Amino acid sequence: MRVAVIGSGGREHALLWKIRQSPLCTELIAVPGNPGMFDVLDRCETDMSVNDLVDTIRRNRIDFVIVGPEQPLADGLSDELDRLGILCFGPIQAAARLESSKVFAKQLMRSYGVPTAEFEVFTDFESVQNHISAHPRPNGRVVKADGLAAGKGAFVCGSDAEAMDVARRLLVDKELGTAGTRIVIEELLSGREASLHFFCDGERYVALPPAQDYKRAFDGDKGANTGGMGTFCPAAHVPSKTIREVERQVVEPVLNALRAMGTPYRGLLYVGIMLTETGPQVIEFNCRFGDPETQVMLPCLGYDALEPMLECAKGTLSPSKYAQTTSRCAVCVVLCAEGYPATYRKYVPLVPVESQADQLLFSAGTAMLNGSWVSSGGRVLNAVGLGDTMEIARNNAYKLADRAVVEGLRMRRDIALSEVL
Ligand code: AMP
Ligand code: GLY
Repeated sequence: MRVAVIGSGGREHALLWKIRQSPLCTELIAVPGNPGMFDVLDRCETDMSVNDLVDTIRRNRIDFVIVGPEQPLADGLSDELDRLGILCFGPIQAAARLESSKVFAKQLMRSYGVPTAEFEVFTDFESVQNHISAHPRPNGRVVKADGLAAGKGAFVCGSDAEAMDVARRLLVDKELGTAGTRIVIEELLSGREASLHFFCDGERYVALPPAQDYKRAFDGDKGANTGGMGTFCPAAHVPSKTIREVERQVVEPVLNALRAMGTPYRGLLYVGIMLTETGPQVIEFNCRFGDPETQVMLPCLGYDALEPMLECAKGTLSPSKYAQTTSRCAVCVVLCAEGYPATYRKYVPLVPVESQADQLLFSAGTAMLNGSWVSSGGRVLNAVGLGDTMEIARNNAYKLADRAVVEGLRMRRDIALSEVL
């Protein structure tokens, strides 16, 4: 079977690494991947528009397409491949609205009683002013742009004045363009967060081991929100009882609702949860694998990940086949460019390093420039360590990160630290 992985970051490198191990896969192409994926032999440069992606997929006679990022799904790539009879792991456009429209996701959760923060939807600033004046919340609230905003659309505001200011920037100044034409203002929740991933075939689902992401730029959860500075898996603060609760209260009603609408959800459903005093609450949905969660979850799977993905695409998932995960632990440390997530250094010269046993170095944002390997993005490299305990996994990850780091890159030093103290 000829398989293509769409996307170019560390998540896609991890997917390529895992899928390459499957006996079902005879050819594997990264579309477009990045030049630092030294172990990936076949890469195909392309633009990320649906038309160009479909052209590339047809030209390469791909049998099965796995979509990494959300944008092509929100743009209808899966729908187009369905029409052409090409199997695709990733939901159709209407189902991908769980991520591409916060308003859609929140209203669906409200209709089906899925636990999530209380919220209101606004399209004009005057209504926001009236609402906030009538319902003061001195402890703060969260303002979110409706549309896709590359992880920059959620604002945790510590006061009503700050919430008002953010709402004005989105609705009046249009700082996020059309993504902020509608906004959601929601209740501020508190508790520990976790990332839960589910393979879904429209009706049935399989939970992957829980992971935790570190979103803030600096140690001790200080600094700006980023795309993710590190992860570990499994997350011990999410026991199987909590996963069951999320399955019953979130995954089942959401899959049933989308099926009833005639737009079944086939692909990876990412449920970002907060463990509050009253139980797990949904913070967000994503319609694709988390980055950098994928880099730690896939090495912890005890089965061939290509099989359940294919079954999801066909609508024939057999959950009992995928019950077992390994007892392994994984930690991922993100090496990012100095300055990230604000303006960051580009073209930092990198040095190739050999991974040792239980170490994986994934290339997230790297390029070749005049024959030299350099950074090209904010998140540059992902150092993953594996082990039978979290402590061993963490040591392996940091040993690798220390060998790969160069002047111009930085990392958090406290990824998974709470798990080994
Ligand atoms: P999102 O883009 O919706 O995942 O939000 C980004 C981050 O903002 C989350 O990972 C949380 O840390 C925080 N956040 C989002 N919604 C809430 C909420 N209702 N209460 C508290 N924190 C939130
Ligand atoms: N790491 C968070 C995300 O992928 O959305």
